[in-house]
Amino acid sequence: MNLKLKDKVALVLASSKGLGKAVAKTLAAEGCRIIIASRNSDDLKAAAKEIEELTGSAVTCIAADVSKAEEVEQLIGHVASRFQSVDILINNAGGPPFAGFEDFNDNDWQRAFELNLLSFARTSRLVLPYMMQTGSGRIINIISGSVKSVLANSVLSTSMRMGVVGMAKMMADELGPYNITVNNVAPGLILTDRIKHTLPKGVDLNEALKQRAENIPLRRIGKPEELAALVAFLASEQASYITGTTIQVDGGANRSIF
Ligand SMILES: NC(=O)c1ccc[n+]([C@@H]2O[C@H](COP(=O)([O-])OP(=O)(O)OC[C@H]3O[C@@H](n4cnc5c(N)ncnc54)[C@H](OP(=O)(O)O)[C@@H]3O)[C@@H](O)[C@H]2O)c1
Repeated sequence: MNLKLKDKVALVLASSKGLGKAVAKTLAAEGCRIIIASRNSDDLKAAAKEIEELTGSAVTCIAADVSKAEEVEQLIGHVASRFQSVDILINNAGGPPFAGFEDFNDNDWQRAFELNLLSFARTSRLVLPYMMQTGSGRIINIISGSVKSVLANSVLSTSMRMGVVGMAKMMADELGPYNITVNNVAPGLILTDRIKHTLPKGVDLNEALKQRAENIPLRRIGKPEELAALVAFLASEQASYITGTTIQVDGGANRSIF
C-alpha cells in the first residue's frame, strides 16, 4: 500500500530513542521530511544519523524539552521557518514514574501534568495554524494501554493519558471541519529502554522478557516498529476517515470487550 506520505513534514517528539525513534524511522522510510526532538543532543544526533543511514532521508534534529513552553515555541518556530508547514505531529514524551497513589506529592503531579498532558495540548495548539493553512493535518498522540485497563503503579500516567483521550476527542470534533484528524495510539508492552529498566535485576534478559509476556495472548513483548506501523497508517491519506479514536498495540493484553 502506498501511504502517500512522500515529502510530508512530520514532527516527531521525544524521538531519540524507543517508540518515538521507531516512528521517525518508519515515517522517514515512507519518504516524510522528518524533524526529531528530545533533550539530549548527542542521542538526538546519533538517532538522526541512524535513520538517515537506514532510509536515505535527511533528518533534522532540534534539542528541546517538550515540557518547557519556551523550548517548544522555539522548536515549532524553527520547523515552520524551515519547512513552512507541519503535516504530521506525533505527540510523545518520556513516561512519568511508576509508584502507588500515596507515593506522589503535588510536585510529582505537576510534573506529570506538564510532561504528559500540557505538552500535548501546547504542541498541538502551536502547529494548528500551519495545518489549517494547508487544509489538512494529522495529530497522533502516543499514550498508554493503561487508559483501557488498570496497570499497577501507573496512576500518574493513567490520569494524564485519560486527559489526552478526552482532549483528542474534543479536538477531533472541533478540527474535523479543517480536515485535521486526531488519534491516540496506546502501547501495551513494547520493548524499549523504558521497559528494560523495569525488568528484574540479575535475571537473564530473555527469561525476564518471557515472564513478562506470559499473560499476553501473543506471548511476546512488542517491537517498536509494530507500533510505528500503526502510526504511519494513521498519518497516511488512507486513514482520512479515522479520527477521535484510541487504538491499542498490545498483543491482545487488554481483555476488555469494549
Ligand atoms: N514502551 C512501552 O511499552 C510503553 C507502554 C506504555 C506507554 N509508553 C509511553 O510511551 C512513551 C515513550 O516510551 P518509550 O518506551 O519510547 O520510552 P524511552 O525508550 O525511555 O524513550 C523516551 C524518549 O523520550 C525522550 N524524552 C524524555 N523526556 C523528554 C522531554 N521532557 N522532552 C523531550 N524528549 C523527552 C527521551 O530522550 P531524552 O531523555 O534525551 O529527552 C527518549 O528519546 C512514554 O510516555 C511511555 O510512558 C511506553
